Amino acid sequence: MRGNLLGRRTAQRLRQVAISAVGSVKIRLLLSCCMIFTLLALASRTASFMGWTDRTASLNRFTGPRKGYTLLINTWKRNDLLKRSISHYTSCPKLDSIHIIWSEPDPPSESLIEFLNHIVQSNSRNGQDIELKFDINKEDSLNNRFKEIKDLRTDAVFSIDDDIVFPCSSVEFAFSVWLSAPDAMVGFVPRIHWIDKSNGDAGRYIYGGWWSVWWTGTYSMILSKAAFFHKKYLSLYTNDLPASIREYVTKNRNCEDIAMSFLVANATGSPPVWVKGKIFEIGSTGISSLGGHIEKRSACVNRFVEHYGRMPLVSTSMKAMDSRSIWFW
Ligand SMILES: *[C@@H]1O[C@H](CO)[C@@H](O)[C@H](O)[C@H]1NC(C)=O
Repeated sequence: MRGNLLGRRTAQRLRQVAISAVGSVKIRLLLSCCMIFTLLALASRTASFMGWTDRTASLNRFTGPRKGYTLLINTWKRNDLLKRSISHYTSCPKLDSIHIIWSEPDPPSESLIEFLNHIVQSNSRNGQDIELKFDINKEDSLNNRFKEIKDLRTDAVFSIDDDIVFPCSSVEFAFSVWLSAPDAMVGFVPRIHWIDKSNGDAGRYIYGGWWSVWWTGTYSMILSKAAFFHKKYLSLYTNDLPASIREYVTKNRNCEDIAMSFLVANATGSPPVWVKGKIFEIGSTGISSLGGHIEKRSACVNRFVEHYGRMPLVSTSMKAMDSRSIWFW
């Protein structure tokens, strides 16, 4: 009898335990379902929020018609290089206009103009003409490079020397990076500055060339021999840059690219963007191959720091590359 009662109680308790266990399993199942449901709901909302579901429609609504860029090419008595360069770039899809900065004493020859017009016309696509203009300068100054151009058709300027060529894919990619950071200088040739600590002269800066950038992976300037920037910087350079800096550039026939880097850094407080790209040099008589180059460039940096009263350049080690060319990420 007693044993029977005990047995019954135990059975009852066991059943209670079993019921509560089943209860907790049910609750867990329910909770799991709720969580999965919430996650699904969130995911679908995020998808539409991020534009994954109807991507092209929402993108087009915001960006409107796409605009290209203007090639701003600096040349000096090297018509063969100019022809090669322009022949190449006219084949790049988003090129809108070409402005040739002409500072030679003689105007461009008829045959050169004819040749270039022919190339441009034969490369113009589906009724959209590529514009070709010579910007003729009376004075021979490196400041001509950044003269304000009133009738520019695009916001983006691709500033380039006549002796280096980039494949269209690299140019397109740099252009797309610039679209993400239209206030920055975006380009292929980085340079660095650092403080000289060698002779207790703490305030002096040294300009670092390609090897320095390679060694440290850091840069603070992008040279205008191959860079995208907004056209507003042309008017800032022409109208707002201190006259003393412009005179220094004209007199020393150097450092207009450093002056531009200072101007953009001072205006934005941000570093430029280095883009990975293939470079082909087609000439080899640039200023940088002459002796005493680093000393002259360092002198420019220090002189400009005096004019600004501070060092505006900002260093970074970010490098933009095409993710399609990277295997692991
Ligand atoms: C640097 O930027 C400041 C603020 O935008 C501006 O007032 C100043 O004129 C700039 N300096 C130079 C030398 O351009």
